[in-house]
Amino acid sequence: MATEKTFYLETFGCQMNAHDSEKVIGTLQQQGYRQVESEEDAGLILYNTCSIRDKAEQKVFHRLNDYKKLQKAGKRFGVLGCVAQQEGEKIFERAPYVSLVSGSASYRRLPEMLERLEAGETRITGLDDRATEETFETEFTARQNPYRGYITIIEGCDKFCAYCVVPYTRGKERSRSSSSVLAEARRIVDQGYSEIQLLGQNVNSYRDPEGKLSFADLLAAVGQVEGIRRVRFTTSHPRDFTPDIVAAIDAVPTLCDHVHLPVQSGSSNVLKRMAREYTREWYLERISWMKAAKRPISLSTDIIVGFPSETEDDFIQTMDLLAEVQYDCVFGFKYSARPNTPALVMIDSIPEAEKSLRLQRLLDRQREIQRVNYSKQIGEVLEVMVEGVNPARGQIAGRSTQNKSVNFTMSSPIAPAPGSYLMVKITGAFPNSLVGVAIES
Ligand code: SAH
Ligand code: SF4
Ligand code: F3S
Repeated sequence: MATEKTFYLETFGCQMNAHDSEKVIGTLQQQGYRQVESEEDAGLILYNTCSIRDKAEQKVFHRLNDYKKLQKAGKRFGVLGCVAQQEGEKIFERAPYVSLVSGSASYRRLPEMLERLEAGETRITGLDDRATEETFETEFTARQNPYRGYITIIEGCDKFCAYCVVPYTRGKERSRSSSSVLAEARRIVDQGYSEIQLLGQNVNSYRDPEGKLSFADLLAAVGQVEGIRRVRFTTSHPRDFTPDIVAAIDAVPTLCDHVHLPVQSGSSNVLKRMAREYTREWYLERISWMKAAKRPISLSTDIIVGFPSETEDDFIQTMDLLAEVQYDCVFGFKYSARPNTPALVMIDSIPEAEKSLRLQRLLDRQREIQRVNYSKQIGEVLEVMVEGVNPARGQIAGRSTQNKSVNFTMSSPIAPAPGSYLMVKITGAFPNSLVGVAIES
């Protein structure tokens, strides 16, 4: 079948990228393409890239180099995502066999770009950058996650934190209309999902272009869509975090009792140089709102260690913040200098070995906090949504409303389907997961 259109797509990066890929796959299928599992079998090879840390662009070029040997077979290549937007037409120079380079702010033009690709064009770009006000909306999302339906509510970022590439790779902050978000939530329920995750680099910077709903209103409205049992949302930015979000979580039981609120550093000096535009105290005030909620809200965060000129004292302030907030999960990263970002003019002064040491100290401290806190849940009964089954260990893996991993056993020989809910009695705890037994009636 020489004429059959096939594609292979590999995705790196954040949930936004993973969900973009679901939309890209849907768009390709709509244009008559079939997804295949290996590069060898594919006519079109797509690589959805991430450029958040390390030498991301070098890794992409390295990978494209590997693809060189495949080009004889007459395959076409495309680079999508954040490295595509960042490197632009330079990709054609370094990897001339690539025909398509597109950042996420141009995906709404994907159908047209694919047609040009099929017509034989070899230098197709979608590099709309920060000029576009439009979002990528398609009804042809090919959802890959069996238990969680993702919905983008806001694209891009206008925050320009000093270290971060995202404002340059994903374009301007632009929200979808609340009616379009709610329509997608209803469609997702029809497709069999009961858990929704609202996505955006900063979800709570959401501004309804229809002027109808605030972010907290939108959360509540999605939570009230019939058939929805769990609503998650990520990522929230402290600058736009308002008390009505906490009030919505208290009022609407389907909104999950978990908030991911990246702090980046516990030192106001470092936060200032990061251009986060809040202080330690300001951040902690938002945390205190959540601690005062009626439902216990689980908190998680992102932290960067070794930002230029971070002193031992700055770092100790971050360590102390862990104990003060009592997070249930921390994603720690070593600062890495990124192209185009304002922090590039600062000297990347902390040696790599010191960054590694600080990261290790941070994660060790956090592990201790989680070890104590997770063990406090022994004896509780939690609602767990099934995510998968590990037959080798005879265990079922799932997640609590607070986003904690729960591994449990049950006596029934029939494994529960991903996306189903069970009550689980917690019998043990590790620093990153709970262990339990299903309560079977
Ligand atoms: N929009 C979200 C997160 C975006 S990126 C927010 O503002 O919180 C995810 C995480 O990657 C960030 O929270 C940050 O901790 C980390 N990160 C971003 N740029 C980085 C860099 N240059 N070096 C190290 N970590 C970085
Ligand atoms: Fe990056 Fe800051 Fe925007 Fe988050 S808010 S995506 S860290 S620039
Ligand atoms: Fe990476 Fe782009 Fe997401 S840089 S983390 S894929 S926004």
